[in-house]
Amino acid sequence: MTGTDNRPIGMFDSGFGGLTVARAVIDVLPSEDFVYIGDTGRYPYGPRPAAEVRGFARELAWSLVSDHNVKAIVVACNTASAAAFTELSGELPVPVVSVVEPGAHALSLTSQSKRVGVIGTVGTISSGAYQRALADIDSSLSLTACACPGFVEFVERGQTSGDEVMLLAERLLAPVVAANIDALLLGCTHYPFLSRVISEVMGPEVVLVSSADETAFALAAMLDELKLRTSASAEGQHTFLSSGDVEWFADFGRRLLGPELSSASPWIRSKTD
Ligand code: DGL
Repeated sequence: MTGTDNRPIGMFDSGFGGLTVARAVIDVLPSEDFVYIGDTGRYPYGPRPAAEVRGFARELAWSLVSDHNVKAIVVACNTASAAAFTELSGELPVPVVSVVEPGAHALSLTSQSKRVGVIGTVGTISSGAYQRALADIDSSLSLTACACPGFVEFVERGQTSGDEVMLLAERLLAPVVAANIDALLLGCTHYPFLSRVISEVMGPEVVLVSSADETAFALAAMLDELKLRTSASAEGQHTFLSSGDVEWFADFGRRLLGPELSSASPWIRSKTD
């Protein structure tokens, strides 16, 4: 036992959203290598049945373990975390980090009034994952949870501002505006890309909480605890794979994540169980 592990971290999302988590992982754990899969060929996950999302999540996670020899998995997608975290934690031979618990913790710490909101995909909100996680953390929180179908599609098209997205945001966010909250969790990893629009609709007194940084901190703590940190001190290597158009993934992904996303390659599906 050396107390270190130089294998990469595995991360996945339905598409570009998990890049918000990838950005935070680069900033918090700069020497760690990672392999990121954006399942753009099958996005969006939000409207799909939980069992189908679970199947995709298992396929992606097992591909990261079997084909890329990762030492840990970050489920950088709320919808997949809500549908598959329990199964993945139970069956994978490596530790798994979800975005749900870190996000819920950050939200509970941010609110002063204890009136909080969570927005996410239909799959995430209807799963009750955040409702359960927040009730476990602090049962005195008053939560308004609201699905925002359509937000992910705008982000995946690269349309993160303008009248159309503003009109949709005003309509979808009306219940959380009416609930008079002081903190709103962006319970979908795509939503930080819409934070300007969301903030304009919610007003300046509502703090927007993203799970990306919290998830990277939770990952760092887990790697420390399990003695899985890399021994390397140079900048980590970042591999980006996509099940869809790799040129689009690299071009648009670079605008979202930064220069570390210099290229993307096709994700080749391996055979699982
Ligand atoms: N970014 C994902 C999430 O956090 C999924 C969005 C989607 O594919 O619908 O839920």
